[in-house]
Amino acid sequence: MNSPHLSRRGLISALGIGAAGLGAASLTSAPAALAASPSRNSRPATPRQTTYSFTGEHQAGIATAAQENLRFTSLNVTTNSRSDLIDLLRTWTVAAAAMTQGREVGATGALNGSPDRAPEDTGEALDLGAAGLTITFGFGSTLFRTTQGQDRFGIAGQQPATLKPLPTFSADELQDGISGGDICIQACSDDAQVALHAVRNLTRLAEGAATVAWSQSGFGRSSTLARDRKTPRNLFGFKDGTANVRSNSDFDDFVWATPGDGAAWMTGGTYLVARKVEMILETWDNEDLTEQQEIFGRTKGTGAPLSGGNERTRPNFRATGANGEPMIDPHSHITLAAPGRAGRILRRGYNYAEGTHPDGTQDAGLFFIAFMRDIDRQFIPMQRRLADSDLMNEYVRYRSGSTFAIPPGIRTTRQYVGHTLFS
Ligand code: HEM
Repeated sequence: MNSPHLSRRGLISALGIGAAGLGAASLTSAPAALAASPSRNSRPATPRQTTYSFTGEHQAGIATAAQENLRFTSLNVTTNSRSDLIDLLRTWTVAAAAMTQGREVGATGALNGSPDRAPEDTGEALDLGAAGLTITFGFGSTLFRTTQGQDRFGIAGQQPATLKPLPTFSADELQDGISGGDICIQACSDDAQVALHAVRNLTRLAEGAATVAWSQSGFGRSSTLARDRKTPRNLFGFKDGTANVRSNSDFDDFVWATPGDGAAWMTGGTYLVARKVEMILETWDNEDLTEQQEIFGRTKGTGAPLSGGNERTRPNFRATGANGEPMIDPHSHITLAAPGRAGRILRRGYNYAEGTHPDGTQDAGLFFIAFMRDIDRQFIPMQRRLADSDLMNEYVRYRSGSTFAIPPGIRTTRQYVGHTLFS
């Protein structure tokens, strides 16, 4: 994962001196970590001071230990000009690099511009620090070729074969207007307002070139990626993220795209699948504990598989009980999701809760996000099995499905995010 650093602002407060006491150039943010490989770095004393470098071999926000909050936004590009699109990516790169270090957007930020003009930075993250902010950009299939087949930016030939809209699955009950889009921005932070500020300022900078198609907030990360933290729970009350991709070699095997995967410009990048999965909490809450556990194939308390052991014990799908019945139901979520060696995915989703439906039931669930090298090989077979016969389906509704190519990281901010696609 990306190494956390003390931000300029964090360092100032850690040293106990005000910004006014420092020359503008006297402190720079900590040097960029080049590799975003998972590690066991400890975090600074307060989460607000945590910063992750925007530069690196891979974009941050993938192998990064999941922060507490998500703001995910999908945009449609309104310009047809390749150079305008590249300008936008350059502008976003500079702004994202600043915000991830706890700095304001623009040369004059929120307060130091002309009083007769709207401030460059919207200001709601002043004093909040970077709070572990990561900003991850991705490209949807419609950026390469519009739904009418138009190659607006001369990049249709570069579209990775695995980047296309998801097929329809048997359990889908999709809502209009919350899938797809030309570009996605995933902002994660330990402070919800910092994540919102990041996306708000990036969409503001896109005025005239791109508009927001849909967005999604999330909280309480459903998987941790940090070995030293307890596995978080989803809104069904179960530990989520136990059997996740975690080690460096797993990331190389299952997450980071290689030159042999098809699109050379994607080397070091990955593919993102997002699904809004509504959870029918009222029905779930009336199920007895035994049934809840059978549905997942794990115990609710410790997360251990029903075949025995502890949370980290591998499930034994062949184990039978005294009655000769399988201890883990063959239609349990973990039996059907278990991919075997070939098709593991990195899950990095967030819970969401958006008030109530008109009938008073909760509008809540999981904004499932997963990263992988190949959507066809890794995600689709797994999702098919789950859609067809997952015991969990009675309690969930699949509301959206989106795919994005997440380009590799940039080595310096003289480059721009996605530059390998256009060079
Ligand atoms: C509301 C939706 C979902 C909920 C509440 C949910 C919950 C869970 C839980 C509690 C576990 C067991 C603990 C763990 O290993 O993390 C799990 C495992 C898993 N889930 Fe889900 N999940 C959901 C949707 C999905 C979807 C859409 C996919 C992929 C298509 C998926 C793929 C997996 C995988 C690969 C595992 C690990 C299986 C293994 O190797 O043991 N899940 N999920």
